[in-house]
Amino acid sequence: MKICVTSASGVEAVTKREIYKLLQVDAPAISGRLSFEGDWEDIAKCNMYLRTANRVGIILGEFNAETFDELFDGIKNIAFEEFVSKDGKIVVTAKNVMSKIFATSATQSISKKAICQRLFEKYKITTLPETGERYKIEVAILKDHVTVTLDTSGEGLHRRGYRGLVGEAPLKETLASAIIQLSVWNPSRPLADVFCGSGTIPIEATLIALNIASGKNRTFDFVNWKCFDGSIFERVKSQAIANERLDQEVRISGFDIDEGQLKLARKHAKEAGVEKYIHFQRADMRDFSSRFSHGVIISNPPYGERLLERREIETLYKDYGKMIKSLDNWCAYTLTSVTDFERLFGRKADKKRKLYNGKLECNLFSHLAEPPKRQR
Ligand SMILES: C[S@@+](CC[C@H](N)C(=O)[O-])C[C@H]1O[C@@H](n2cnc3c(N)ncnc32)[C@H](O)[C@@H]1O
Repeated sequence: MKICVTSASGVEAVTKREIYKLLQVDAPAISGRLSFEGDWEDIAKCNMYLRTANRVGIILGEFNAETFDELFDGIKNIAFEEFVSKDGKIVVTAKNVMSKIFATSATQSISKKAICQRLFEKYKITTLPETGERYKIEVAILKDHVTVTLDTSGEGLHRRGYRGLVGEAPLKETLASAIIQLSVWNPSRPLADVFCGSGTIPIEATLIALNIASGKNRTFDFVNWKCFDGSIFERVKSQAIANERLDQEVRISGFDIDEGQLKLARKHAKEAGVEKYIHFQRADMRDFSSRFSHGVIISNPPYGERLLERREIETLYKDYGKMIKSLDNWCAYTLTSVTDFERLFGRKADKKRKLYNGKLECNLFSHLAEPPKRQR
């Protein structure tokens, strides 16, 4: 099968590395997707283990279409019956970019009609009850080229199952994991998030350190499909649990000024099964200090989107820079949309990487530990 994995803009290289580590395959990025040939076990593993991917799909067909007739015929040619059962619930979404067929809702309804027509003929039925398991099918038309993808994940892979829809400005789990993987941190080093909010960064770091699979506590659409042999998933999941390293010593902490946020962070850590590994504490970032050296701060401070807050943000960022300077050989990775962050922080970043927090353009500023001052 042709498997395709999607991840957020700016994160693809990290996801590609994860795929290589997991399956030893090179997945080139084509139009924002990483694709490679694989089987059901690969699909199960990608859903279970990829920490930075959004979704894992199967490309069912590709063809060119400039008219609705061509679209209908192209879709109807695809062997949906190999995946979709007689009573499957079919959810079609459409995306049209720079194409002659530009009406999204018509693309969606014509595609669904073509899929149903195909299944009527193959199953020799006249109606589809759609009472069974879900099949999400995306029809994407980019420059008149149609790609039809079956989504195996169902809910996006950022839904690990440990977090509800709450929190001030929570970072997506997939983005938090990407930032951690873009940093120099490894489980032998201390990690602190001094603006931890609902705890996403410390929790994701702990999952990495203990080798807990990101998909362990959730399910995926493909697991319920009749075309899929459930024993493959059971095997992949048992292997994931056997690979956990729960005796790994970690020094991971999260601080926030807001007790309500910390309450959430503790709740999420508990749901993720990692509460005993993370030290959460109410503290102002300005008071952070550590007896350890060579630690890593990974944080997502407030951005101060409202004009009124700008002055407060400037002071906060200046104080943040001073605090990091006072630590013994610590690195800092900071995700923010504030463009003059380096000026406020007081030092040019060693690296700057454009990432998106939702739709908001941000940068991940990397400040490596300052080299020791030369003795005179
Ligand atoms: C953008 S949110 C962090 C969201 C977090 N990454 C998450 O996933 O939920 C910024 C956090 O910084 C906290 N904060 C603001 N000023 C602070 C300060 N001086 N010291 C510590 N935390 C502060 C806020 O309470 C808020 O929870």
